This record gives sequence, C-alpha cells and structure tokens, in this order.
Amino acid sequence: MPVKRMRSIAVMTGGGDCPGLNAVIRAVVKTAINRYGLEVWGVHDGYLGLIENRMDRLAYNDVSNILTVGGTILGTSNTANPFRFAVQAGRRMLYQDVSDRCLRALADRGIEALVCIGGDGTMATAAQFAKKGLALVGVPKTIDNDLYGTDVTFGFDTAVTTATEAIDKVHTTASSHHRVMIVEVMGRYAGWIALHAGVAGGADVILIPEIPYELPKICEAVLGRSRRGKRFSIIVAAEGAKAKDGRMIVRTRIAGSPDPIRLGGIGPWLAQEIGACTSLECRAVILGHVQRGGTPTPQDRALATTLGHAALELLMKGVKNHLVVLKDGQLSSLPLHRVAGRIRTVPAHHALVRAARAVGTSFGV
Ligand code: F6P
Repeated sequence: MPVKRMRSIAVMTGGGDCPGLNAVIRAVVKTAINRYGLEVWGVHDGYLGLIENRMDRLAYNDVSNILTVGGTILGTSNTANPFRFAVQAGRRMLYQDVSDRCLRALADRGIEALVCIGGDGTMATAAQFAKKGLALVGVPKTIDNDLYGTDVTFGFDTAVTTATEAIDKVHTTASSHHRVMIVEVMGRYAGWIALHAGVAGGADVILIPEIPYELPKICEAVLGRSRRGKRFSIIVAAEGAKAKDGRMIVRTRIAGSPDPIRLGGIGPWLAQEIGACTSLECRAVILGHVQRGGTPTPQDRALATTLGHAALELLMKGVKNHLVVLKDGQLSSLPLHRVAGRIRTVPAHHALVRAARAVGTSFGV
C-alpha cells in the first residue's frame, strides 16, 4: 500500500530555554518547506500553547535571521503538563488530563505530526502523547547535557562557554583579594556543566551530584592551598551537588510542574560553611539563567541545525515517536519510551574526572 504523503506538521519548544533552539526551529522549518513543501505550524509556549490552542503558521521568512539568536521565537514553558494540568478551583488546585484537547487542536488544523524540541520532561510527555497515537519526533535540548541516549545536547557548549568565561573573571578577583570564590552553575541532577567548565576554568575544587562531597575535605583542599602559598581558591559547584549525607539545596518547589523541584543556593551555603571552618574570606557567585542566554556557540549552531534537519528527515521516512540522537559521533534515533524518565549523569570514572584529579583538582572526597 502506498504511504500517505504528509502535508502538515507542527513544531514546538518545551522546558527551559537554551541557546540553539532557534537554530533547530529554522532547520526544521526550512527543510520542511524547501525539501518537502510542507505546511508548518509553530506552537506557542510549549505544551501550554497546545493546551490553550495557540499556534500559528510559520513561513520561510519567519525563520530567517534567527540562527544566531538565543531563546526561542516560539516561547516555551516548563510548568505545563497536559496529562496533569493544574487548574485553580477556588482555593484548591485540581489536576486534569487535558491531552485530548491538545490532540484536537492539532487535528482541527490538519496537523499530522509534531516535532518536539525539549529535554527529559518534554520527552516524557511526548512519550505519553505517542501512546495516544500522535506521530512525533523529539530533538534533544538542554544546557544540562543530561538527556538519556545522546552523547550531547545542543545548548550545553554555550552554557559551558559562558560558565568558563565567568570562572576566568572570578579568578582575577579571587587572586587579588586572596579569597575563596565559589561559582555555582546549573545542571540539575547532573554535573556536566560543572565538570567541563570547572576543568576548563582550572577550578581547584569541583563539586558534582555524582560524587558526593564531604565538607571537611573541601576545607582541607582550600587550606592545603593556603599552606602551599596559594592565597586563593576557586570552587565550582553544580547546583545539584550532594553531600555524603544526601543533603541537596532546594531553592523552591513549583506545584504542577513536570519536575517541581528547583535547585539552587549551594554556593552561598558553601561560602558560609567554608568561611566558618577555614576562617578564610569566601564569596559566592550564582550564575543562574545567564547560562541559558546569549547567542549559541558555532558548535551549538551546527549541532542544532544537524538535529533539526535529521528530525524532519526521520518524520518524512515514516519513523515516529523517536528521539534524534548523536551516539559515538553518529546520528541515529531511539524510541521515546526508552528515553522517558531517565537521565544521563557523569560516570564517576569519566575521563575528565580522572584528568581533573591528575592535575590536582579535588572533588571534595
Ligand atoms: O534544565 C535547565 C535548567 O536551567 C536547569 O539547569 C535548572 O536547574 C533549571 O532549568 C531551572 O529552571 P527554571 O528556569 O524553572 O528556574
């Protein structure tokens, strides 16, 4: 039987924004229009736009001049879950499954498939939609680099570049004031940003969730440097760094969000504790959302373009409900259900961890 030719698709960006999203949108839309003459719709604000039935046609010119621009022209949301959508009912919050409403919004416009650009939360929801019969392809995004099944996500290289530049700047002020400076970076439950930026920035101590730290060991490392005449130290701490006793610093909880926990605050906490135990002057810098902003690096632009194009080609080949991945330098894809609910963390004996140890970096153990 001949395969029915696809005519109309939609594209959306979900979860936290990151540099390179626009480059993917551009690659998807240009490939769809140039090579296949498809009609393309852009969903506003991720799953929230699907729930609220907000989408517009995207023309070729709508995606011109966006390759180098950070953020997403479509907008995004990391709090709306169509399978557990929070609705205020008086003083109470009710959670409803509004996924059928989303499917209707697509079907009413004749949209046959969706390209979902997002991280693990977005892919977990995409896998649920796939079970309901929606044809979709996922594109892995996140500065955290923690998406299961792919070696790298776009946005990571830019975040590491930004974090490294910040560490370099902190270095000079730490050295001038003979201080311990703690730079807190993002990454959720994975230490990829801290590890890469920490090594690139020559951090003396790197703290990541995968290697639980002991406070006395961090203080020893810092005091040891003082004894050797090094009058300053740089500590790079992942926001999700965990103490041996399991302590993690949670900034806030967002009800209804697919991942309600927001980490953050370990930097100032460490500054206080290390100051108290070493009597050295400590300061903390929280890089926060700066890491998600700005123009994508050339590497991220190229990766985003490759992945966006690959997603569209997969759809046109009839492959559905897969995530486009880069594995050992090769493009391939994985079924969404294999990716959903899993994250990729730093192996404790990763080459970069071993190299960092070899050059004298402490992991607080
Ligand atoms: O997943 C990307 C990320 O920036 C994490 O590194 C961070 O923990 C989280 O999002 C912050 O989320 P929000 O933008 O909701 O504060």
